[in-house]
Amino acid sequence: MKILVTGGAGYIASHTNVELLNAGYEVVVIDNLINSDKESIRRVEKLTGKKITFYEADICNKEALEAVFEKETIDAVIHFAGLKAVGESCQIPLTYFDNNLCGTIYLLEMMKKYDVKTLVFSSSATVYGLPESVPITEDFPLSVSNPYGRTKLMIEDMLRDIYQADNGWDIAILRYFNPIGAHESGEIGEAPNGIPNNLLPYVAKVAAGELDYVRVFGDDYDTPDGTGVRDYIHVVDLALGHIKSLEKLKQHPGLVTYNLGTGVGYSVLDIIHNFEKACHKTIPYQIVERRPGDIDICYADAKKAKEELGWEATRSIDVMCEDAWRWQSKNPKGYAK
Ligand code: NAD
Ligand code: UFG
Repeated sequence: MKILVTGGAGYIASHTNVELLNAGYEVVVIDNLINSDKESIRRVEKLTGKKITFYEADICNKEALEAVFEKETIDAVIHFAGLKAVGESCQIPLTYFDNNLCGTIYLLEMMKKYDVKTLVFSSSATVYGLPESVPITEDFPLSVSNPYGRTKLMIEDMLRDIYQADNGWDIAILRYFNPIGAHESGEIGEAPNGIPNNLLPYVAKVAAGELDYVRVFGDDYDTPDGTGVRDYIHVVDLALGHIKSLEKLKQHPGLVTYNLGTGVGYSVLDIIHNFEKACHKTIPYQIVERRPGDIDICYADAKKAKEELGWEATRSIDVMCEDAWRWQSKNPKGYAK
């Protein structure tokens, strides 16, 4: 089976590519490298001993996209391509709407034209907005508070409408919680441009001595230690969720939606202390103001994915931090030479 992976040079996609190739799938990647490096493709090939067909192109470029569908006989698409920085999306919303929404519309048009109606889509726990309670099940009300989140919810809505109009599609909407960690080899991992926005890569850079201290955004939340609680999931567990979803889609289930999380929440201070164990260093931190838009607590009810996909996350928070640290130590500059 040949899988088109959009955004296939990125963080989650590179780990998914490893699992796809190891499971015997052929992988075709389209990525414009706006937030990634072609070196990730080379490393995945080295890790698996298998080739990836790589197209450096923008999914918003209809001609380039069509050329891929024309040349390759695609069986299914995993759609990762998108811009993902919440703060940036508030500053340049149009860029986010253009890239994430137009890119997805062009992709769906091409899939329809070439009769490829099997899709796995990268959604996010952000579509639950401010959840009324935890754990969060897939039938919770949906709402968003920033342009990035809005693109995810709008794409989900588009997919539901497309399926309503033509139930020949098989679509898995995967709502990721907080992916962290890296492949155990230390060869692939998260390589954010500039100063990281997300907690884990920030902590890793403080541990490496590149940044002075972690700013903990608020300690007055309604959580056990007052700092924000999230459902951190190892990126390899997340990647395996995509393989299980493809297997599910082979059974023609129609449109399905799953939370991909662990069902366990850790606070910011838990993460800092677990990372200290992994890197054998003290990680300095300071409590600062809350970050606007943050919620106090968010973790998944992961039962549906377990029951219907036979998937559950197995890697512990210790392993997540150890793998993140191995990647950081081996690649202080990310993929840059
Ligand atoms: P990433 O930035 O590492 O990967 C996204 C990839 O898409 C990059 O390689 C980028 O170059 C590519 N891309 C962006 N726009 C493109 C375009 N128009 N044409 C071609 N390629 C394009 O991010 P990631 O963390 O691996 O996230 C992958 C997906 O998962 C994204 O859709 C993201 O919104 C979603 N997601 C991520 C998280 C997270 O915390 N990392 C959480 C929930 C959902
Ligand atoms: N945090 C800090 N200091 C930092 C960075 C983060 O204290 O320097 C705290 C945040 O306040 C929050 C927690 O660490 O309590 C996690 O923050 P992240 O920025 O790592 O992740 P978020 O939960 O805010 O958001 C991430 C993605 C979103 C996605 C969401 C759910 O950035 O795109 O997970 O999947 F929608």
